[in-house]
Amino acid sequence: MQKKHKLYVGTNLKMFKTAAQTAAYISKLRENIADILAEQRANVFVIPSFLAIESAQKAAAQNGLRIGAQNMSWLDEGEHTGEVSPVMLEEFGIGLIELGHSERRNVFGETDEMLGKKVCAGLAHNFTVLLCVGENAAVRDAGQSDEFIRAQLEKGFQDVAPENARRIWVAYEPVWAIGVAGVPAAPDYIAARHAGIAAALADIFGARSADIPILYGGSVNAQNAREYYAQDHVDGLFIGRAAWDANNFDGIIRDLLNG
Ligand code: PGA
Repeated sequence: MQKKHKLYVGTNLKMFKTAAQTAAYISKLRENIADILAEQRANVFVIPSFLAIESAQKAAAQNGLRIGAQNMSWLDEGEHTGEVSPVMLEEFGIGLIELGHSERRNVFGETDEMLGKKVCAGLAHNFTVLLCVGENAAVRDAGQSDEFIRAQLEKGFQDVAPENARRIWVAYEPVWAIGVAGVPAAPDYIAARHAGIAAALADIFGARSADIPILYGGSVNAQNAREYYAQDHVDGLFIGRAAWDANNFDGIIRDLLNG
């Protein structure tokens, strides 16, 4: 299948794996996919917990496996107990920040306005920003998904200049498809939402939107990955549970590359 981007494939480890477990996982993954990384056949990334970032970076050994952070404050410093700032993350040499995962939005109350500030802060500190969007089941059932996702994108990128598009990735993750309680989405449903996202990004960024990869996430596994990636406007996959074992993740990546 012809794709305009090189495959993007990554995992968010959520609040799983300690620093030592993350390092072991990444060492194994790096070994497994050494050929793919050496030949730069895919953009592979792992997003561990904050405390595991340092050991993850060491284990990745700068050989092409990108490490990211799961969240970030929009402020450089301040009286904000429990927050982690972009300046602190910069020290670890990571290049990628995930923002707006549905668990951040729904469990920790992050709003589109907050995420708009985080996106700007991430870009100002030269990170690549991966913004997650997606509707819940009520919005889907009301037939409002495209409008809802468009609003998340418009607010999240409201103060972003088009030339920053090359440092933006988007992940579409329907809330109802994520995690142990998630129901895998139908491929044609995903294709329709990704087409809507591509159209929204074109309205926001103009021609520069072509630089932005759109990843799909939500109950991706070894059985459905290939079919999901085969959909138009799906530039990669953002995987949770099915990627937390290095052998499984390796298998999925190879399957996608051989598709
Ligand atoms: P899952 O998680 O693949 O375990 O459903 C996806 C995500 O939350 O990004």
